[in-house]
Amino acid sequence: MNRKRLVAGNWKMNTSLNDGFQLLSDILENIKEADIEQSDVSIFAPFTHLKIFQNSLNGSGIKLGAQNCHHEKSGAYTGEISAEMLASVPVEQVLIGHSERRQYFGETNSMLAQKIDRALENDLQVIYCFGETLEERESEKHIEIVTRQLEEGLFHLTSDQMSNLILAYEPVWAIGTGKTASAGQAQEIHAESRNVIRGKFGEEIASSIRILYGGSVKPSNARELFAMPDIDGGLIGGAALDAISFSEIVKA
Ligand code: PGA
Repeated sequence: MNRKRLVAGNWKMNTSLNDGFQLLSDILENIKEADIEQSDVSIFAPFTHLKIFQNSLNGSGIKLGAQNCHHEKSGAYTGEISAEMLASVPVEQVLIGHSERRQYFGETNSMLAQKIDRALENDLQVIYCFGETLEERESEKHIEIVTRQLEEGLFHLTSDQMSNLILAYEPVWAIGTGKTASAGQAQEIHAESRNVIRGKFGEEIASSIRILYGGSVKPSNARELFAMPDIDGGLIGGAALDAISFSEIVKA
């Protein structure tokens, strides 16, 4: 099964609008059409940047995404952003279940399942993030935790819905810490996750779904990670805030 690689930049809560616009321009200068033929590229920007970025990215081949959406359709949720609002920008993709959302904002698997539903109702492509903490890995519960995150977040979906989803395995202990999972450690979880998907949705979906790795991916380790049979690209945090590093990862 030929899965096209995806390199996605998660900017998190970084850059003013001006600085972000400059970074986007630098990225556009460094990533060429030929690169996008080899690898899909997405940028998950802060909400405030989305409209202006949508104009700039138009026709570039780079997809635009948001980092979160609310699990209800609309209503009295001061300060929140709905999937429908994102679709009206329009953005094409949304991150759901990033570990920082789980950890700092109390997002549970069942809330994330609802967010996925809202996103899909609005034709947004979902990148569903999952991964274990250091404590969970050290107590050898990582496979169990990851399996539960996949089951509770995704198993209510139809095969049709599932076939358009993207997954991102991000071990919490490797995010922003400079500690990357070894290519072997990441490959093990990616293969296991694909098995979990296979058990519920069958071989065709399991072998075509893309599973990204995230957690301290840099130009120096991207090639080795991306060479693993079940790793289909990366979700990049820190290194996505530097146009040269990000484009080197895209070209890795
Ligand atoms: P990092 O972040 O590359 O800075 O570790 C990855 C992520 O959280 O998506």
